[in-house]
Amino acid sequence: MIPVILSGGSGSRLWPLSRKSFPKQFLALTGEQTLFQQTVERLAFDGMQQPLLVCNKDHRFIVKEQLAARKLGVQGLLLEPFGRNTAPAIGIAAMKLVEEGRDELLLVLPADHVIEDQKAFQRSLALATNAAENGEMVLFGVPPTRPETGFGYIKASQDANYGLPDGIKRVAQFVEKPDEARAQSYLESGDYFWNSGMFLFRASVFLEELKKHDPDIYDTCSLALERSVKNGEEVLIDPATFACCPDNSIDYAVMEKTQLACVVPMSAGWSDVGSWSSIWDVHEKDENGNVLKGDVIAEDSRNCLVHGNGKLVTVLGLENIVVVETKDAMMVAHKDKVQDVKKLVSKLDAQD
Ligand code: GDD
Ligand code: MG
Repeated sequence: MIPVILSGGSGSRLWPLSRKSFPKQFLALTGEQTLFQQTVERLAFDGMQQPLLVCNKDHRFIVKEQLAARKLGVQGLLLEPFGRNTAPAIGIAAMKLVEEGRDELLLVLPADHVIEDQKAFQRSLALATNAAENGEMVLFGVPPTRPETGFGYIKASQDANYGLPDGIKRVAQFVEKPDEARAQSYLESGDYFWNSGMFLFRASVFLEELKKHDPDIYDTCSLALERSVKNGEEVLIDPATFACCPDNSIDYAVMEKTQLACVVPMSAGWSDVGSWSSIWDVHEKDENGNVLKGDVIAEDSRNCLVHGNGKLVTVLGLENIVVVETKDAMMVAHKDKVQDVKKLVSKLDAQD
């Protein structure tokens, strides 16, 4: 099994700590190690090869430094000149492996998630392996706890299993990022899982589905790989060709359309630390429900996240507020609004 780690996102909702030049997966947001290092370390078990990494070319030195710091290795770096989202990133990884005669199972993993229960993760993976070997595309479904609109929703079929191993269900419906009303109704129905963003399938199975459902991405990726420059373990994807590639995620391009999807439940303390409120969620709180990092004094404040990075930060009389201080920028936001931090970032981008 070959892990394919996707590490090309910019993590804009975690601004001002996460920056385009140094995105959240390379930050130690939840412990001693960065999210990227935790992702690679999580894969050190039998049957798992070293990962193939797909990331932006500008991040290759950060990646190498973080791997070396933990004595970790990868089997290759696929370097994107710019992001075209996850469908092309996975497509090129799968094409490279098939081209090398290695049509193996690919475990696609985001580089920026927390999984607390490693054993439960491995149990779900063991269940998924058998199905993926039989040509299925396996999703890992997390029981939802809130009407989150930033996730994909998976409805498991209630029908007979059609030969799938016990514990695995055919996917009846996959809906990527529904609006709030639909997310609420999916949550209330009890019939849906969240998509964890991890996938298991054979490389050629994914490529056949990509070709069928998004031939433009398939053809452009195939050409971009053919024209890419190989340098030892690094492959630099051809910028001129890749620029013509449509920008789309695996979720919209393939998973919403394929008939081959099935779902394995996963209760492994999974969380996508995508926003400041989810960072607050995964940390232990003090007796007032506050998460305080760095040099911080909080008085008469509740359920806040205060993140100092050098200066002394003091807060008084706050509730449900996020304060993040860095050397050159400071953000103060209501916890219910932190999904919109990317709006601030696009305003900044517009000023560039
Ligand atoms: N190499 C590469 N290139 N990686 C990318 C790119 C790209 O262009 N774009 C995103 N990634 C990486 C991100 O760094 C992250 O690790 C992973 O791919 C997923 O991308 P996100 O942009 O974080 O996706 P999302 O969170 O909006 O949605 C996905 O994950 C959710 C769970 O966290 C979907 O799969 C949802 O269905 C899912 O619920
Ligand atoms: Mg994400």
